[in-house]
Amino acid sequence: MNMTFSKHAPLRGEITVPGDKSISHRAVMFAALAEGTTEVTNFLQGADCLSTIRCFRQLGIDIETAQDRILIHGRGLHGLTAPKAMLDTGNSGTTTRLIAGILSGQKFSSTLNGDASIQSRPMKRIMEPLSQMGADIVSIKGNGCAPLHIGAVRPGGLHGIHYTSPVASAQVKSCILLAGLYADAPVSVTEPQLSRNHTELMLSGFGASIRTEGCTARIEPNPQLHAMKIEVPGDISSAAYFIAAGLMVPGSEILIRNVGINPTRDGMLQAVRSMGGDISVLNKKISGGEPTADLLVKYSELKGVTIGGALIPALIDELPVLAVLATQAQGTTVIRDAQELRVKESNRIDVMAENLAAMGAHVTATEDGMVIEGGYPLKGAAINSYKDHRIAMSFAVASLAAEGETTIADADCVNISYPNFYETMQSLAAG
Ligand code: S3P
Repeated sequence: MNMTFSKHAPLRGEITVPGDKSISHRAVMFAALAEGTTEVTNFLQGADCLSTIRCFRQLGIDIETAQDRILIHGRGLHGLTAPKAMLDTGNSGTTTRLIAGILSGQKFSSTLNGDASIQSRPMKRIMEPLSQMGADIVSIKGNGCAPLHIGAVRPGGLHGIHYTSPVASAQVKSCILLAGLYADAPVSVTEPQLSRNHTELMLSGFGASIRTEGCTARIEPNPQLHAMKIEVPGDISSAAYFIAAGLMVPGSEILIRNVGINPTRDGMLQAVRSMGGDISVLNKKISGGEPTADLLVKYSELKGVTIGGALIPALIDELPVLAVLATQAQGTTVIRDAQELRVKESNRIDVMAENLAAMGAHVTATEDGMVIEGGYPLKGAAINSYKDHRIAMSFAVASLAAEGETTIADADCVNISYPNFYETMQSLAAG
């Protein structure tokens, strides 16, 4: 479905954003492996998290869903049952990689596949460590991507390892830690920079023994996990679009309530502050082991900055909309150390550069990021979202500052992480 947008007057008002995608996925998965019924509120009913629910139902887990509350009837660490058909992970990298870690420890075999995007995303990064643990996992087409076949755990079971990951990836880290639940000795993962730590926080809450020191997380095998209540905070990756819109559109003021501000996720706040953005963090509290706050964003004159290094994993999903914001800042913004953007739902470096250029921005794609010369006006254009939800939302935001009409192809892909995105944008424009 194509959608057309045009420039907007100030955006004003108060909003909430949907539940955090990373946390919603994990809630379903870990609750399935726990004893008892886990209640999850503010669960994200986006297509990705629904893929996780669908897969766990296929693995014999009873999951009741209502509006924004779900109940997962866990069956314990060894309670999953063999699926009757291939597991369909849809567009979701988190579902694919995390579930592969869990399936590696099961007494039954399974196959996993997803959409065209999933079938081109790198899976060797999980196949290698899982194989080192003794798992039987193969890429069916031999190209290092899904579809994946995961054999029943071998008679010797999975072994404890210490794995040094070449990438700072929470999906890789979580996959290995989840396989570690089924190992014969502790499993630890060291990553080059700290990636999001929701797995570590939530698995501890369910009763697993996990320790983190610096960039190393270590899990003890074979815990008994117990059901709990989880309130999912608002997703900072979804809030990011309205943070950018509020900073960029003159006269705007937006209050975003109940947003997760876990330090492994809050890089967007640091980046926009360094650009001169006026953003206040109000009413901080801890909810379900995760820090949350209300964010008050006001239109600001911005300047270009360099974004790289250890900050990158803490804002990796926000880089597309940060690139849009950089077009409206004075001076040059350099995004570097972000080569991971090339292997997301789309190649986000090339796709951002192509679409920003179509809108008249001065942008150069680099191997590991982008260089954006800010201060040039944007004009409406035909945008190809490549069915990537974060690209579609980034350009809906860009359209708010552009002269003329912007048409986004496959705009409905926002359903992956933010089903009501356009309605929320409309409500602010009317405010
Ligand atoms: C996620 C981790 C990140 C992120 C993705 C969600 C997670 O991916 O980009 O949207 O929930 O663990 P990587 O771990 O591959 O960096």
